[in-house]
Amino acid sequence: MIVFDRVYFSYGSRTILNGLSFSIGPQERVAILGGSGEGKTTILKLIMGLIKPDSGIILVDGEDITIKSEAHLREVRLKFSIVFQEGALFDSLNVKENVAFCLREYTKMTEEEIDGRVRELLRVVGMEHAIGLMPDELSGGMHRRVAIARSLAAYDPLMFLYDEPTAGLDPISADTICRLILDLAGGGRGLIMVTHKVSDALKVAGRFMFLKEGRVLFDGDRENLVRTALPEIRMFMSELECKLTKE
Ligand SMILES: Nc1ncnc2c1ncn2[C@@H]1O[C@H](COP(=O)(O)OP(=O)(O)OP(=O)(O)O)[C@@H](O)[C@H]1O
Ligand SMILES: [Mg+2]
Repeated sequence: MIVFDRVYFSYGSRTILNGLSFSIGPQERVAILGGSGEGKTTILKLIMGLIKPDSGIILVDGEDITIKSEAHLREVRLKFSIVFQEGALFDSLNVKENVAFCLREYTKMTEEEIDGRVRELLRVVGMEHAIGLMPDELSGGMHRRVAIARSLAAYDPLMFLYDEPTAGLDPISADTICRLILDLAGGGRGLIMVTHKVSDALKVAGRFMFLKEGRVLFDGDRENLVRTALPEIRMFMSELECKLTKE
């Protein structure tokens, strides 16, 4: 579904991705791990065609999206549902209008149909009761759930992309989000979750990629991850071990 072949990307003179290569199948559940600034969000933006690499090939469903026109990229984007790292909701719109936004933009649904669809999506994320609230009246976890509902509006994505969906949440809210992410990927749809949190990655993913200096330092399953001797990854795992010993 997604192939990166020797992808280079830089901001000015700063190289972010340094010949990055990987491939992800349509039904895989992948966590991309790595330190702050390693280029995780950049990868999601490249997959969506929001930015272009300096060189290299990016295939989505067999098509090289680096050479596609903006009109064609809109179609490519519809294959994905994405929840961005920050600023996921429009502050001036209430929950209903936030979720309805794409329905109004991309469909010809009637007001009644939109209302029904918004309620259905809010029910999926357990937020129907908050339909009339403004974003600043929501907690972080509620905000994230509404953002997920909004990302599901209008179309039926082939794959889900999440950028730090549990950042800044208490463990219970983070767990709720992880369950939701898993539920939504049911029925054989894939997902990519970008995160710093190994504990959350282990809840949703079956494959783990660890980025370092613009390349894949590690790529393996749960067992490989837990057993790895790579010091960078052990540092990430220590957060988890620390929690386990306390429990
Ligand atoms: N628009 C931009 N202009 C210049 N530099 C940028 C821009 N966006 C990101 N960067 C830089 O590119 C690097 C990679 O950014 P990216 O957002 O992909 O990192 P990340 O792995 O998602 O980090 P985090 O875990 O903190 O979210 C960072 O060093 C960042 O400072
Ligand atoms: Mg990021």
